[in-house]
Formats: sequence, C-alpha cells, structure tokens
Amino acid sequence: MNIQARFKAMDFGPAPESAKPAEEWLEKNGRRFNHFINGKFCRGKTGRRFETVNPATGTALAAVCQGSKGDIEVAVKAARAAQRKWEGLFAGRSRYLYALSRLIQKYSRLFAIIETLDNGKPIRESRDIDVPLAARHFLYHAGAASLTLSELERRVPYGVCGAIIPWNFPLLMLAWKIAPAIATGNTVVLKPAEYTPLSAMLFSELCREAELPPGVVNIVTGDGRTGELLVRHPGVDKIAFTGSTTVGRRIRKLTAGKRVGLTLELGGKSPYIVFEDADIDSAVEGLVDAIWLNQGEVCCAGSRLLVQEGIADRFHSKLKARMDRLRVGDPLDKCIDIGAVVDPAQLKRITDLVSDGTCEGGDVHVAKVSLPGTGCYYPPTLITGLSPSSVLMQEEIFGPVLAGTTFRTPDEAVALANNSRYGLAGTLWTENISLAMDIAKRLVCGVVWVNTTNMFDAAVGFGGRRESGFGREGGWEGLYNYTRPEDPPQYMKRPLGNIDDDREPARTVSPLDRTAKMYIGGRQVRPDGGNSSPVCKFNGKVMGHFGLGNRKDIRNAVEAARKSFPAWASRSGYNRSQIIYYIAENLAARDMELADRIGDLTGRDYDSTIDEVKSSVDRLIYYAAWADKFDGAVHDAPMNGFVLAVKEPIGVIGILCPLLFPLLGLVSVMAPAIAMGNCCVLVPSERYPLVATDFCQVLDTSDLPPGVVNIVTGLYESVAPPLAGHDDVDAFWAFAATNCAKTFEAESAGNLKRTWIDEFEPRDWRNQLTDYTEFLRQSTDTKNIWIPCGE
Ligand code: NAI
Repeated sequence: MNIQARFKAMDFGPAPESAKPAEEWLEKNGRRFNHFINGKFCRGKTGRRFETVNPATGTALAAVCQGSKGDIEVAVKAARAAQRKWEGLFAGRSRYLYALSRLIQKYSRLFAIIETLDNGKPIRESRDIDVPLAARHFLYHAGAASLTLSELERRVPYGVCGAIIPWNFPLLMLAWKIAPAIATGNTVVLKPAEYTPLSAMLFSELCREAELPPGVVNIVTGDGRTGELLVRHPGVDKIAFTGSTTVGRRIRKLTAGKRVGLTLELGGKSPYIVFEDADIDSAVEGLVDAIWLNQGEVCCAGSRLLVQEGIADRFHSKLKARMDRLRVGDPLDKCIDIGAVVDPAQLKRITDLVSDGTCEGGDVHVAKVSLPGTGCYYPPTLITGLSPSSVLMQEEIFGPVLAGTTFRTPDEAVALANNSRYGLAGTLWTENISLAMDIAKRLVCGVVWVNTTNMFDAAVGFGGRRESGFGREGGWEGLYNYTRPEDPPQYMKRPLGNIDDDREPARTVSPLDRTAKMYIGGRQVRPDGGNSSPVCKFNGKVMGHFGLGNRKDIRNAVEAARKSFPAWASRSGYNRSQIIYYIAENLAARDMELADRIGDLTGRDYDSTIDEVKSSVDRLIYYAAWADKFDGAVHDAPMNGFVLAVKEPIGVIGILCPLLFPLLGLVSVMAPAIAMGNCCVLVPSERYPLVATDFCQVLDTSDLPPGVVNIVTGLYESVAPPLAGHDDVDAFWAFAATNCAKTFEAESAGNLKRTWIDEFEPRDWRNQLTDYTEFLRQSTDTKNIWIPCGE
C-alpha cells in the first residue's frame, strides 16, 4: 500500500468519553429529581413525574416532576420574597455569579456528559461549546452586576422573571436567561425543556454550593403546560422565552395587556450566502458548523444555502464530498460530528417535513454515511435547486437538512435572503470586504457572520427581527432587556393644573364644515370613509371638523411609510438631523399661531400653551442632536477580529400619540422615531386632532420626504387596533391610556412586532428630567456583525 492509499484508508478509531461520572451522579440522586424552590429540593405537589430519555439509546435516564399550578405558585412566591433583598445587594450580587461561573468550570466534565446523554449532542460540542460558554456567561454577568448601578442609571430590575427554555442548548440557554436576570437584581423561576431537564438539576446543586440566597433561582420542571402556568401567573413581571415561533406567539397573546416585560427568541431560517470570490474550502467547512452543529437543531442554523451561480457546481460537489465524510454516531464518541436528534417526535417532524417538501421538487443528496442501528439519527441531507417559496426554503426544519438555491447578483442574494418571515441571523462568505459590509447592512436580521458562522459570546447581543422575535440576550443590549426605566417620581407622573381636564371629545357628527385633512405620503387627504367629527373649542363652540380614519386609511398610511423607509433609513444621521432642526426652526416661526390654537382647543392660558410649543421646539432639537450620536459599539468578544454592534432603525412604527399635550406629545414620540431612520404612522390626540393637522403644514415646509411621517386622525378605538395588527408595521407604541393595551398586544402577535405600551401615562411631557434616551432604544434594534481578522 503506498502512502496515498494508506492516507485514504485511514479512519478515526472510537474515542468514547466515559459516561461513568454522570451515571454515578444519577445513581446518587436515585434517578429521581425534584423541583428546586427557595433553595431546597421539593417534590411536586401532584406527585406526577415523567422520564427523560437518552435519544442515542432510547434508555430512560431519570424521572423528573411534572410542575403543577401549586408548584409554580410556591416558586413565584419564593422568588418574590427574595427579590427586594437581592436587588439591594447591588454589586454584592457579583460574587455569587462569579462563584457560579467557577463551579460550572469545576464540574465542566460532568455537565458535558450529562448534556450529551440528555440531548444527544456530540460530547465535543457540549465540552467545547455549551459548557465553556455557559461559564463565560456567568463570568461576564458577574462583571455586569458590579456595573449596573453606575452604567444602567435610572433603570430598575423587573422583579420576578419567568424563564422558559428549549432543549437544544439546555445549560447554555439556562445561563443566557439566569445570568443577566440575577445580575440586574431580578429573581428567577426557570422551566427547562421537558426533553432535557438534567443539566438544570445539576445547576441547582451548584446554586446551593455557591450559597445563593434561597429564592433567587427557582427551577420547576415540566412540559409546555407547566410553562404556560408560569406565563399566566400574575406574580411574574417579565417572561424571557426561547423556543418555537408558534409557542412564542401564544405567549405574546397570553401576556397581552398585562404590562409584563417580554423577550422572545424564536425560530429562524437563516441564509448562508456564498459569493463567487469566497474561499470555497473555508465556506464548505463553515457549513459543517452552520447546519450540522448540534444536528442542525439550532435556531440560527445556516439552513438556507444561497450560492452564486458561477461557482455553484464546484461548491455543491465539494460540499457533497465533505458531507460523505461526516461521522454520525454515538454522541459520547469524541470523533463524532453529528449525534442523535433529541427525541423520536423531533425525528418524525424532520422526516415528515422533508418528505412533504421534496414533493415540490429539488435534488436531494443524502450523505453516504452509516447510521447506528438504534436511536434517533437523521443523515446529513442537502436539497438544491429549490424555488424560494418552497416549504423547505421557508420552514424551519430544525434538523441536519440544508436547503439551497443559486443567485446571480448581490441584489438577488439580498432579495432571496430577506425572503423569509424570520430574521434571526445570516452568514456570508466573500473576500471582498466592501461587498461583505454592504450585504451585512442589508440583511434583515439580528446577527451577521462574515467569513465565519455560529459564533456566540456573552459580550455580544443575540436575537432577531420579524417572526424570530424581539429583544437581545448578551452584552449591554441584553441587560437593558432585564431592566426597565424606573418609575418617575409622583410629580412627573401627572400633568399639572388645568392640562389634565377630563372632557370627553365631542363625537356627534354635524354637517360638514371645515374638515382638516389627514397627512399620508406627503399629501393632505380626505378620510376614506368620508366621515368626520366636530372639534369644539373649550367653550363648546365648533371650531372645525377632523376626519374619522378607518382601516383603509391606516393601510394607505402604512403603505406610504413602507415605501419611504429604505431611502429614509439609508440617509445619514447628519442629513436626518438637519431636517429635524429645520422642522424645529419652522415650528418656532409659527409658535404663537400654534399656541393660540392649543389655547382655543384646551382653554389653557397663553403661558402654558406657548410653553408647550417652545418645549416641542426644544424636543425636536434634542432628537436632532441625537440623530448622528446614538452610536453602536465594537464588542470585545474573545476572537481576533471585530464585532460591530450596529444600531438600526426598526422600520415602520405605528404610534398612538398622547391625549393631552397635543403638540408636545406628538413631537416627543415622532422625533426619536424619525431621527433613528424609521418611518411612522401617527394617530394624534383624538381630543385635539386639529393641532396635528396644523403641524402637517410645518412638516410640509421642512424638506421631510413624503411618507416619513403620516398622520391618520380618528378615534383611538377604531384606528389603533388595525395599526397594531398590521403585518407591515414593525413596532407599535401606545402613549394614550385607552384600556386597550390587551387588544393592541394581542393584535401585534400576528407578525410578532415589538410593542411599547407606556407605563407612565399620563406623562408630563414638559418634564426635561425624563430619560428620553429610552425612546432612542425603542426606535432601534442592534445588529451584531462578526468579522474575524487575518489571512
Ligand atoms: P417548544 O417551543 O414547544 O418548546 C420550547 C419550550 O417552551 C419548552 O420548555 C416547552 O416546554 C415550552 N412550552 C411549550 N408550550 C408552551 C406554552 N404553551 N407556554 C409556555 N411554554 C411552553 O418547542 P418544541 O415543541 O420542543 O419544538 C418544536 C419546534 O420548535 C422544533 O421543531 C423547532 O422547529 C422549534 N424550536 C425552535 C427553537 C429555537 O431555539 N428557535 C428551540 C426549540 C424548538
């Protein structure tokens, strides 16, 4: 045999990791685990249990409790009782997080084996990825705990956080939820996934070893029913969920109107784009990490392959050759690339989706690998030549299946990549840095990897856009999601003097008089339904009429906003600031006229109304100043390279403006949104809408492109719900106390848009002490772009 033949014949021998430490730990616990509540292990109130099974062998590992209503009740109570004291520890919290991090390192081998037995993932991955990243997460947040007081000024923890996690990265997801929550002074009730509860059980032992105060971390096991009990519990202040989009949408509906903080990290169908000038071998190797890491059971898996036409044949044949060399088998074997799928139910889901999908066409390549005779295994599969709308290109398969097509131009690549209801991550390979950064900017998602893939770090926020959910986990961005602005002092909460009048708006329709028009796409338009309502002076005399907008007006306004969005978002902050300064200048020139108008409508004295106009000018100047200063960051991830945290506009924002302060309220919500590059649809004060229609004339003379600001007048209850439910609106804010928060948030579940229902309504918008930067955060999303350096 010559050297070449010998080289080809070489294969890896088995290198099994011993399961002994985990088996001993399971035996020590009698293969039965209880909930961890208030620092103690306690049996479930109903006594019901279920088994968790090793998917590689089908053997039961242990039994855990099925959490009931009573269990959730006790856990939330314990978390509530512990919260104040824990919050009051401030930087003292740091040492507990540090201890937890060190303990994860100390037990890292045991954790890795347990994770692999319970989930089926290769030991190489649990050992080198899951466990070290979990330790890193606690260490990073140990530091964050020391800094929250100085760096997260005027923000407070939510209180009790309910955390619900999936089965694909059980320990890591636990760390992603618990570390930032407790670092910022919250306490937690965590529900692990039913398929993989064991590493959470080991973690609860660590909480005792670290002498974490009882009640700070509580762990209740169970299936989706237990998760739902936690979501429904009235004592929970924030829900952090990672899992399927279907369940995320249900949680959005269940929490609607409850003033519960919510972050959702949901599914994805992330593009993996290979340009002609890419380093092809690296891009092929990258795919092994993108789609075959963790058997493809990764929310941000690069599961949609887009290859530029000129290299497609060469790329696909290299990829197939690489696939045929992947090793599928015993997850405890250190030489294995792909382990077992988590459960027979998931295996069936993958099998069914692929067989349904391939009915629509496509060339299927199943890797020529041998699979173990028993256990939940699925072979690495590539399906190319698919149409962009096919099931396999659109649905999250959550298995080792890669679906692909080709593209010709960069523009086409972007169009294909963004042709998805999801928006979690994207990977691109090219040697051209200018092209890479251009494409990275244009992908609608929360994370982009350039010439690398599936990189994670505690210092870098992770999370999505569209139906991949909202909120970020990790980094400073993540810490904001575990805190909220502190309640303003009483004097800031309620408007002063006669501003807070309780008059009802006049609603009787009278003969058409002077009807102020709406403002859509830069044009003054009449209401679609042809209905109007009189606006009375404070003394009861009719001043004019305002159009009663309907669903069609909202649709037209959203269409105009969407059309203007790409051009407005791509302008520089400098350019946007100049336009907002110009609006301020034009408003200042008409200050007396607008002050008189506000006075006529509200009956307030001139001092008060001129103050409102002048404050509006100041607010415009304030946000014009921020337009080119609300910078992103370069995160310090442990990698030779850069992670750029870029602030991006969200898109189209629907805003219900405050009832009182008809000008200042409107300007205060509009200005940050447009300063950050969003386009908006505003529903102005239903009581004093004529002020908004006057303000349109100011906008008209201020070089604001048509469609950036659209104003639809009408009654809140009829125009706001269609705006909140519109699928082309990316965020919805409500600053009017309407008792409709539940409707708005339930409506928003359709496309999972971000919502912001103001907690401090009615606000005194004149107050300069409010933290108005919160408006900038609500107007932006952070996209993290990973760019490694070196040859
Ligand atoms: P799932 O979304 O049902 O489960 C995730 C977690 O949510 C588990 O802890 C579960 O017990 C809990 N849960 C389920 N129903 C709930 C409810 N009504 N209220 C509160 N909590 C609830 O995910 P599942 O069924 O395990 O997997 C189904 C599909 O979801 C997968 O095929 C995959 O496509 C997707 N998935 C996506 C994940 C991601 O990270 N993006 C993670 C897990 C699953």
